[in-house]
Amino acid sequence: MTGQLIVFEGIDGCGKTTQLRRLEQWLSQPTWPLELLPPPSRIWVTKEPGATQLGTALRQLLLTPNEFEAMDPTAELLLYAADRAQHVARQLRPELEAGGWVLCDRYEDSTWAYQGLGRGLDLTLIDQLNGIATGGLQADLTLWLDLDLEQTRQRLCDRGAVDRMEQADAAFHQRVRQGFRELAERHGDRTLRIDADGDEDTVAERIQQAVSTWARRSKMHSA
Ligand code: TYD
Repeated sequence: MTGQLIVFEGIDGCGKTTQLRRLEQWLSQPTWPLELLPPPSRIWVTKEPGATQLGTALRQLLLTPNEFEAMDPTAELLLYAADRAQHVARQLRPELEAGGWVLCDRYEDSTWAYQGLGRGLDLTLIDQLNGIATGGLQADLTLWLDLDLEQTRQRLCDRGAVDRMEQADAAFHQRVRQGFRELAERHGDRTLRIDADGDEDTVAERIQQAVSTWARRSKMHSA
């Protein structure tokens, strides 16, 4: 696989979608900013859930609040896994095999943090299911945007309508944050924590520095 998979993770309202776009712009500059790695044939932005046609339908099911029937946590887990299986098979693998750099808004770590630590589902089962859905395709780099809950809650309030997942209580989101912290320790080789407290430019610069450091490290390992 010649491409690179860079994943953005973090709790709702941490700013990852904005920062993902900022990184895309930076990587697409006419002067390739990472002299240590060859420029990609293309940079492609995607997300979970909801990148494919099937995923769009699943995203709607997953995120639309339903006051008449609560979604069972296992059903929720399986729907996220179905979205991922389709995404990996139809988009991620072909794109990476063609040498593209993929910037992905959430990936398997979200399932571990939200359905595992957040909902309390069995973590071994989640690891297995992630393995099935991804076919073993792992991120080359995961950028975990870490921000405290009060600040993310404020941003979500400012944004207005909240989706079904965002409606969960503060304790749920604290557990999710803890999940990302544990993942960063467990996968320290491919995960970088980004302090997401600061204005947009400051956080964008932190991310650029982190990506540059990672690129240098990747080059050293491949030399
Ligand atoms: P996201 O697209 O980041 O939200 P938004 O576009 O509203 O900012 O993610 C949608 C929600 O799905 C988010 O609350 C996290 C949740 N999620 C899981 O619970 N498990 C998963 O595996 C994934 C990929 C997302």
